[in-house]
Amino acid sequence: MSLALLRSSPLLRSLPQAALRRVLRFARWRDFPAGTDVFSKADQAGHLFIIGQGRVKIFSASSGKKRKTFAYLGPGKFFGEMALLEGRERSASAQAVEDTRLLLIHKREFQAMIIQDPRLALHLLRTLSDRLRRANEEIEGLMFRNVLGRVSKTLISLAEQGGKRFRGGMLIGGRFTHQELADLVGTTREPLSRALAALRRADLVEVRHGQLFLRNPRKMRELVGDGVAV
Ligand code: CMP
Repeated sequence: MSLALLRSSPLLRSLPQAALRRVLRFARWRDFPAGTDVFSKADQAGHLFIIGQGRVKIFSASSGKKRKTFAYLGPGKFFGEMALLEGRERSASAQAVEDTRLLLIHKREFQAMIIQDPRLALHLLRTLSDRLRRANEEIEGLMFRNVLGRVSKTLISLAEQGGKRFRGGMLIGGRFTHQELADLVGTTREPLSRALAALRRADLVEVRHGQLFLRNPRKMRELVGDGVAV
């Protein structure tokens, strides 16, 4: 494990050299093949996880077949901080959706890092605040938007978080099945497919080599009422 690799994580970037060397000593990498669970909701928590490579889904499943996906997280992102900060069980489940390599940091070390480095604490707070803002927007969407509006908003959010600019539009990172998108939006497959078809007919969304491409994110934002360019 190299210092350069640790610095590629926005959470660890601010740490001074000596603290990073400490991370090198106590943290360890673990590989999770695509489809394997990292942990389940309500598990006891021992570690913080930083994604070195791959992609992780954060979700909750009901006793029936229903699922709600809260987020997809990619390289450099961290998760598993909530249970450690609160001294409680895991608030959601985490699963590797691609072959994934995670850096595990024990809760004792995580707490020591927060106390030692205010910039790390600030980054943590900013991330938690951003997740709360997105969660509020999602509640708003569930109350005030129809499925088409919620699908548009979800696609914009995916593009903002892990997308790439491409020919005046945004390419969404990773591939998603209609079921996976429905679990993110909080709907079922049929309404999701209808909404995607409507967005394709309106020339706002296209599928390129299996990936979703937002042709005109600015217009999409205007349509969902945010009015701000992506
Ligand atoms: P923890 O409760 O330890 O385990 C589940 C993790 O999922 C949680 O910590 C957060 O790191 C992450 N998580 C929970 N809700 C969200 C969300 N809405 N967006 C992004 N990540 C989340």
